Amino acid sequence: MTTPIRKAVFPVAGLGTRFLPATKVMPKEMLTVVDKPVIQHVVDEARLAGIEEFIFVTGPNKGVIEDHFKQQIHLEQVLKDSGKENELKALQASQLAPECVKFTLQETPLGLGHAVWCARELVGDEPFALLLPDVLVQSTGKTCLAQLIEVYGDTGGNVIAVEEVAAENTHQYGIVDIERSKTDNHLIRGMVEKPSQGTAPSNLIIMGRYLLQPEIFKILDAKERGAGGEIQITDAMIRLLESQPFTAVEYEGRSFDCGSKVGYQLANTSFALARNNLRDELREELRKLL
Ligand code: G1P
Repeated sequence: MTTPIRKAVFPVAGLGTRFLPATKVMPKEMLTVVDKPVIQHVVDEARLAGIEEFIFVTGPNKGVIEDHFKQQIHLEQVLKDSGKENELKALQASQLAPECVKFTLQETPLGLGHAVWCARELVGDEPFALLLPDVLVQSTGKTCLAQLIEVYGDTGGNVIAVEEVAAENTHQYGIVDIERSKTDNHLIRGMVEKPSQGTAPSNLIIMGRYLLQPEIFKILDAKERGAGGEIQITDAMIRLLESQPFTAVEYEGRSFDCGSKVGYQLANTSFALARNNLRDELREELRKLL
């Protein structure tokens, strides 16, 4: 029996400089994809996978994320009084029970590994999910995180979602080296963070969804710097791989990098096209536009 995955960590401390001036006062995680902030799409993915506790690692200027997941009693009452049932449902669906939400502050932006380390006390001694909120995933069946948890039920250990990219883009990501199996799940032999061009061991990137064992925190304690002078989660995973198995999952679905302008626009279009009430009109308008 594997220990259930109950907690998820969301590192939301990034400055979002690529989206200035939109992110001057508004955290990048609060930018809208169709009608929900990016972070809510990611939280919903986790919720659908059975996550019970949501741990946000925040930075300065991120209070609005905390507000977003709280109950807005006044707004609820206004919607109730005016009989706006659907709007009320949408509002209530965005809430998280206060006892399920935790916030911790990453005071200095020292890298993704450091952000995860900041959640160590809230996670404690149990395996946990890590979801990078820049990445949105659209799947036809189970959510990406639910797919990882299903694999974890068989394999235990650490499980990470991977996907193929063009060889010329591998230097922008963490890359896995795998023992290729006949299924979509492969044993990981090695990993490297942002390899220089032409040196990546494969085209399979670490795309932003992880299930990690708590021993990762002991490794992160050392605060070793890696690629770009940052404390990298990939480097800590490389160390953990010496003593624990890692499985790479080629999940079903499509990811969108909402940290890039084109990826963000594509996410908006693709998520809108998936809505029955928007699809036909949007398709028609896009056709005209193009
Ligand atoms: C981070 C991780 C990297 C991963 C990427 C996915 O990099 O360090 O391993 O491939 O997210 O988006 P970042 O995009 O923060 O530079």
